[in-house]
Amino acid sequence: MPDILILNRSELQELLTLEVMVPALEKAFIAFADGRTLAYPVVREEVRGHRGIFGIKSGYLLDDQCIGLKAGGFWLDNKAKGLTAHQSTTLLFDPATGVPTALMDGNHITTVRTAAVGALAARALARPESTVAAILGCGVQGTAQAQALCHVLPIREIRAFDLVAENVAALSAAFPTGAGPEVIAAASAEAAVSGADVIVTAAGGRAPVLFSDWVRPGVHVNAFGTDTRGKIEIETELFKRATLVVDDVIQATTIGETQAAVSADIVRSDGPFTTLGEVLAGRKPGRERADEITLFDATGLAFQDLVAGSLAISLARDRGLGRFVTLS
Ligand SMILES: NC(=O)c1ccc[n+]([C@@H]2O[C@H](COP(=O)([O-])OP(=O)(O)OC[C@H]3O[C@@H](n4cnc5c(N)ncnc54)[C@H](O)[C@@H]3O)[C@@H](O)[C@H]2O)c1
Repeated sequence: MPDILILNRSELQELLTLEVMVPALEKAFIAFADGRTLAYPVVREEVRGHRGIFGIKSGYLLDDQCIGLKAGGFWLDNKAKGLTAHQSTTLLFDPATGVPTALMDGNHITTVRTAAVGALAARALARPESTVAAILGCGVQGTAQAQALCHVLPIREIRAFDLVAENVAALSAAFPTGAGPEVIAAASAEAAVSGADVIVTAAGGRAPVLFSDWVRPGVHVNAFGTDTRGKIEIETELFKRATLVVDDVIQATTIGETQAAVSADIVRSDGPFTTLGEVLAGRKPGRERADEITLFDATGLAFQDLVAGSLAISLARDRGLGRFVTLS
């Protein structure tokens, strides 16, 4: 059996940057809209006794001939153990034989692939002149999403709110003074959102952190924290005022932010829906008016991890990174 390539987190951090991930995922979202990327049913279940969510996301990239999965999830008590809440591992196979081709850390892949999707959605849906961003939830994703917004928009000010002050400080540290946007610690979620052009929700809780009345016309919202049944970050009233774009209809309506709007009969589960892939392919409009509120519901799709993994394999080959292990 051929050897399996092992890539660790620091190698993946070197290989997978927003610069390479944004164009790779743009291509992949268009392929997904065309049915050339297959997503298999998601496993996402509570880990009883450990305040954790364990999941498996798997799929098949027909264009790249890559099949595989990411397994892992989210453990609430990890911070106290010196670990990030999110933990995952990516495993890829040769679709022609089932032979494993690569095993890699999934944590950086999750961070950068999710950030790249935030960048794509903001570029497609936010007003291009957006300068003020609000981040609600300043953990791993809040920080990565703030960086993603700066990658595609002329952001000059980031208003950051978190229940934990040191997490705001950690986000702030990712933006050194004088080298980019100013980061302001907001006293409340409402204060952070007031006057913002783009809002990111990445708190991942079970009660809204963003309320409809706070959102002025013309704002774009990137909703990233709701990716499991029962989570909610945004008051469902906002769905009555916003143009909704989802990463995937089934995931958005069952495990995404849209699930609560469906339960409240504000959004019909049978649509019509617009997906990010359709917008990126130019098949459906994104933002049509400057005063429109746009809302992107990101749940995270298997193909995003596979695209990242497949790209990492080819970049690692070019740069001689990683090591090979024989399993059989
Ligand atoms: N959509 C996707 O593709 C995707 C990808 C990765 C993570 N996620 C989800 O995003 C969420 C955040 O993930 P993370 O890795 O950044 O977690 P994290 O623990 O690093 O960060 C979460 C942050 O939110 C803060 N927070 C919690 N409740 C809050 C509230 N009410 N108001 C303000 N801040 C609050 C926490 O203090 C923490 O700083 C999780 O729910 C995770 O499952 C989604």
